[in-house]
Amino acid sequence: MRHFLIACAASIAFSASIQVKALTTDEKVDALLAKMTLEEKAGQLNQYSGYEIITGDIDVSKISHRNLLVKKGLVGSVLNVLGTKDVEKAQRYAVEETRLGIPLMFAFDVIHGYRTIFPIPLAESASWDLEAMERSARIAAIEASAAGQNWTFAPMVDISHDPRWGRVMEGAGEDPYLGSQIAKARVRGFQGNDLSLPDTIAATAKHFAAYGEVIAGRDYNNVDISRRKLWETHLPPFKAALDEGVRSFMNAFNEFEGVPSSANTYLVTDILRDQWGYSGVVVSDWDSFGAMVTSGVAVDDAEAAEMSLEAGSDIDMESDVFVNFLPQLVRDGRVDEAKIDEAVRRILQMKFELGLFDDPYRYIDSEREKALILAPEHREAARDMARKSVVLLKNDDQLLPLDKNIKDIAVIGPLADNQFHMNGFWRGKGEAEDVVTLLDGIKAKVSSNTRVRYAEGSGLESVDKKQLRKAVKLAKKSDVVILAVGEDADKTGESASRTNIELYPAQQELVKAIHETGTPVVMVLMNGRPLAIEWSSENIPSILNGWLLGSEAGNALADVLFGDYNPSGKLTMTVPRNTGQIPIFYNTKRVSRPLDNTRYTSKYIDSPIEPLYPFGYGLSYTEFSYSSITLSTESISFDEVLTASVTVTNSGERFGEEVVQLYIQDMVGSVVRPVKELKGFEKIALKPGQSEKVTFTIGVDDLAFYTRDMSFKAESGEFKLFVGSSSEDLQALSFKLTAK
Ligand code: NOJ
Repeated sequence: MRHFLIACAASIAFSASIQVKALTTDEKVDALLAKMTLEEKAGQLNQYSGYEIITGDIDVSKISHRNLLVKKGLVGSVLNVLGTKDVEKAQRYAVEETRLGIPLMFAFDVIHGYRTIFPIPLAESASWDLEAMERSARIAAIEASAAGQNWTFAPMVDISHDPRWGRVMEGAGEDPYLGSQIAKARVRGFQGNDLSLPDTIAATAKHFAAYGEVIAGRDYNNVDISRRKLWETHLPPFKAALDEGVRSFMNAFNEFEGVPSSANTYLVTDILRDQWGYSGVVVSDWDSFGAMVTSGVAVDDAEAAEMSLEAGSDIDMESDVFVNFLPQLVRDGRVDEAKIDEAVRRILQMKFELGLFDDPYRYIDSEREKALILAPEHREAARDMARKSVVLLKNDDQLLPLDKNIKDIAVIGPLADNQFHMNGFWRGKGEAEDVVTLLDGIKAKVSSNTRVRYAEGSGLESVDKKQLRKAVKLAKKSDVVILAVGEDADKTGESASRTNIELYPAQQELVKAIHETGTPVVMVLMNGRPLAIEWSSENIPSILNGWLLGSEAGNALADVLFGDYNPSGKLTMTVPRNTGQIPIFYNTKRVSRPLDNTRYTSKYIDSPIEPLYPFGYGLSYTEFSYSSITLSTESISFDEVLTASVTVTNSGERFGEEVVQLYIQDMVGSVVRPVKELKGFEKIALKPGQSEKVTFTIGVDDLAFYTRDMSFKAESGEFKLFVGSSSEDLQALSFKLTAK
């Protein structure tokens, strides 16, 4: 009732100032815009962070001043104001105390869950299960919106070939095709079909563009790539998100061709708005407008504001430059007010679509908040997503799955019983206390006759002899060791780049010491990026890439370890042998001196060039056999398609899922072409003995690329088509594309 009254008051205040009935949204927006002062317009472009989670430098004493600005209508949206209580407070300021009563939007980095935490996005991508990822985003949206949010800064769709860069945890790996499919699934999940519903939230494709190319993997560093690389590798997932209706874009921190993304007219206006026809909002990254003064592209904040607006960016997150300088810039004749109007229009349009003008308190319902946050069905979905994300890297002599009746199990490692780190970076409002650890998951899974004992063994980055001795002693008297090592939550994510992606020396010492006991070891790697575990890969019999899996981490891992779930994940980022191989990725272009046994070839003299584990790789507890490929024809013209079929049989003894992958290679092109590129995949589920025919259809669109003059088209000639279970385990056939 109270909400209803407030809503009525708000809409009366609003409709008292302008007649909105029976107008189109565009007309309503225009009518409102006509009432706004220049200051109020600049205010709509201004976004501040609340006080809960601060992701940049903020002066806490400014908080009450900020509330004042909200009350003056000088703030259009906020981030990090969480929970219905605080959201309602801020919304009341905006709706009841400002002249025009324009509601705020509430944004948050809901990256892999709000309170029920799902696996980190890189882990989820390894499931290759688009429906599951859509569901994960859907649940994140349900919980976030129940806590008052209506906008998430996700999905991050940056492609990266550099696991030194901590932010790879937030993306979908190295491949633009897979990344595009996942971008779409996540946008669908967050936004649903109708943004005005109280359980859908606006998504953001970020960071536009090419942030995954930061030099040497160092966060916030510069990027220096060609337009070709931009279009081939980085733009496809953004375009895919846009095609799926993503409601906002975020500028990247990096420059492109020397111009910071926020002020990059080529990126924001030429590509996004003009070529792609995007009519929505572009929000800066944290202080990325103001930061142009720091990087020496703008002489002062006023110029930074001028450049950002001119380039087509709309919302200033946390640098104050729009609200402080735009009105004066207009009065000085440096900025055209019409340009500000365009940006305000886009923001008001988004608020209308979110339903905020119908009911500014639409997302504020404490009953929903209580009922939905951490709901049991959300946890169940998180467990399902988590086990689908696990990748079985190695399983000598079928050590896995383990028998639930084993007598003595040692659970060892600094991450084996740590609740906090399982939530990973960007953990939303996830709480450590909600997490099931590996140790707890195992205890809940095994028979009542099994003894499960735990020793930490080492710290994350340090080890003392006593700790280590205790773990070794335990390993010696156990039948099997489950060893949880890797990196903690804050070693990936924003501002968490590493120069060495091997196990920390303390943990490496632990792994070696436990291995020396002779007790069989199952390593559960917990990681936010691919880790170069060459020694373990050579010496440890079974290895699960277990990521940071969120609230249900321990249960999901136990499901996999003890065979209640047969692992089906496949890597979406190549795992290097060592840091020196980076950047390493499967769809590399052909080189003029391929590897052979002579000296002058493209190789290293101190390491193989092959990765430790390739893109698309992941084992199962069962075996899948592939029939040979059947092509419908060996030659197609530009308006024809061909099909490639393969029959996959589960020739093992357990139910299992397989990701059947299709790659294509263009044998000769007007520019150097990749050795292979993923063009399709299908995840199938087979009972023992069961077969399924998988058919891929290939047409000219799948063969098109940016040719020498940068036009996107296919060129006639010979192609290779590969089908198989990883980017390295493939059969190949050839076909031709002919001019007629
Ligand atoms: C900086 C990050 O780069 C961006 O991804 C995030 O959305 C903002 N901070 C807001 O937290």
